[in-house]
Parts: sequence; structure tokens; C-alpha cells
Amino acid sequence: MNAETTPRREIESLARLNELADKNAWTLEDLDWSMPVDRKRLWAPPAMSPLSYLPSYTRLNEAQQLRYNQIFALAICEQFIWFETNFLVDAMESVVRDFDVPEELVTAVNFLTEEEIKHTRMFWRLLEKCQPDWYPRREYHLFRMTPAQKLLTNSMLRWPRQILVWIWIAIFFEERTGDYCRQYLRYERRNPGAIDPVFLQVHRFHFRDEARHFQLDQHLLGWIYDRAPRWKCRLAGQMFYRVMRGYTSPQNTARQTLRQLGREFPELQRDLIPALERELPMLGKSKAYHQMAFSRKAVGNSLALFAEYPELDRLWSLFQVENKADNLRRA
Ligand SMILES: [Fe+2]
Ligand SMILES: [Fe+2]
Repeated sequence: MNAETTPRREIESLARLNELADKNAWTLEDLDWSMPVDRKRLWAPPAMSPLSYLPSYTRLNEAQQLRYNQIFALAICEQFIWFETNFLVDAMESVVRDFDVPEELVTAVNFLTEEEIKHTRMFWRLLEKCQPDWYPRREYHLFRMTPAQKLLTNSMLRWPRQILVWIWIAIFFEERTGDYCRQYLRYERRNPGAIDPVFLQVHRFHFRDEARHFQLDQHLLGWIYDRAPRWKCRLAGQMFYRVMRGYTSPQNTARQTLRQLGREFPELQRDLIPALERELPMLGKSKAYHQMAFSRKAVGNSLALFAEYPELDRLWSLFQVENKADNLRRA
């Protein structure tokens, strides 16, 4: 298939995406870093955090819920850094190096990697501003990879031409990123002043680039994935299922945020933290959590794309509020 002659889902042409990247460019200095971070306000919309969907969550008092919200918001920043460094910057470098793609796509990918490096720096700066004691060096404090994720990341970076799962990961997570940003902006509109302005500002700037990235990822799908032999697509499908299995039922980083909360509120360590840890597996089946994170409203374009590719059929068993037939009809 030719991505230029068969555009997907009304995405912009590469020429237009490159023009927009140039026109809407911004730097870290465009943000106001002089504002202090407000510890009395939320740092993320409460409904974004997985733990808020667990039964024992309501047993946390107001101060504990607020602090959990802030720790969660920092974990999200760490997750962005990890994802954007490994799956975007590193994988995209291989597009420029290893694949035979048109010059316009190379230009678009170069814009994307430049922007993701800038985002990564922006998130580190926010983390350091909020919690300088956690980040004497730019190392993760909350984010944890499972051994399977580590293996996947390493093999993908080593053989990006063979292991094409990074294209699906980029598509899904970039749409998810856009949705995170939208949730911040929506919550602020409905609850003016409830979210800390520094966090709001960071996510607002992030949003400026992400809608374009999601479109570029679909060009990559057309130019690279759709031209790949079947075995590579089947392998990508199997690997993507594993990635999404971990993501639709959060474990490791969620546990780290709980442990951090326990360090700050030792009185929770006896009952409440262990209860929440026991309840974590419920997220994989929680309709309310899935409605927020894995529904058409959140990631509709990704779901419609998944429905088009039979090697992704197993994914539908992970989703609690979506099915293939409904999403295929919309495709
Ligand atoms: Fe980004
Ligand atoms: Fe991005």
C-alpha cells in the first residue's frame, strides 16, 4: 500500500505536517518556570489515576488522596520520559537509518525526535522542580519496567527492522498522550484553578506537538509496517499483546507509587497499602477504568486501526468496554 495515495483517517500529508512542525515550534524557555509548584493543588485530574478506581481508595483521607494524586502525576512524567526516549527517539532513529523511506518522511521523523528530546527535558525539569530530593540525577524514582518489558525494549532497539512492534506502541501511546493532555485541559475548564498551573502549562505545551505525532505514526504504518512480510506483522502482534496486557492492568509503577505513599504516611502501611496492592489486579477488569483509558473516547483512532489488522485480534480480550466488531464498523 502507498501511504501517499491511500491516506488513512484523514491524516495530513507529510508536507503539511512538516510545515506545521516548523510553524508551531516552541522551546523550553517559552514556558514560565518561575512559578512555584503548589502542593495544595492537584497535579493531575483525579480520574486519570488507576488507584482511584479501587474500592479501598475511598478509605484514604483527603490529604492522602491529594498526595497520591501528586505522586501519580510525577510517575506519569517518568513514564513519558521512558516511552519517548525508548520508543520514539531511539526507534525513530532507525527509521532514518535503516529503512528506505521518502525524504519528507525523514524530515518529519527528524522533527519528531527533536521534539521528543525537548519533551523529555521538559518533564525532567518539572520533576526536579517538584521533588529535587528524588532527582539528584536524572534517574527514575517511581517508574519500573518488568523483566519482560526490559527484554522487549532491548530486542526492539537491537533489531528495529525485524521487530516492528514499536510502530503499534508509538501509535497507541501517542494517542494516549494526547488524551492525557486533553483530560488536563478539560478538568481545568470544569474546575478552574484546581490543577497546579505549572503542570497544566507543561501538558498544554506537550499537546501542541502530540496530535501531529500521532498522524506521523500512521504514515510510518503505511510506509514500513504495511510493506513488511507477514511474519514480521504476526510477531509484532504477539509482542504488542504482551505490552498491552501489562498496560491494561497496571502493576509495577502503580506499586511504586503506593510504596512512596506508604513512606510518607507510615500509618497506611499496616492495612490500607496492602489492601490497595491486593486490589490492583482488579484494574484489568474494571469497566470504569477502561472507559477512562481504553475506550473510543480516549483512543478511538488506535482502536479503529487495531480492528483492521487480524494479527491484533487477541488484544480485544484485554479491553473491557470495546470490541472488534464495533470498532471495525467505524474504520
Ligand atoms: Fe512527547
Ligand atoms: Fe510524541
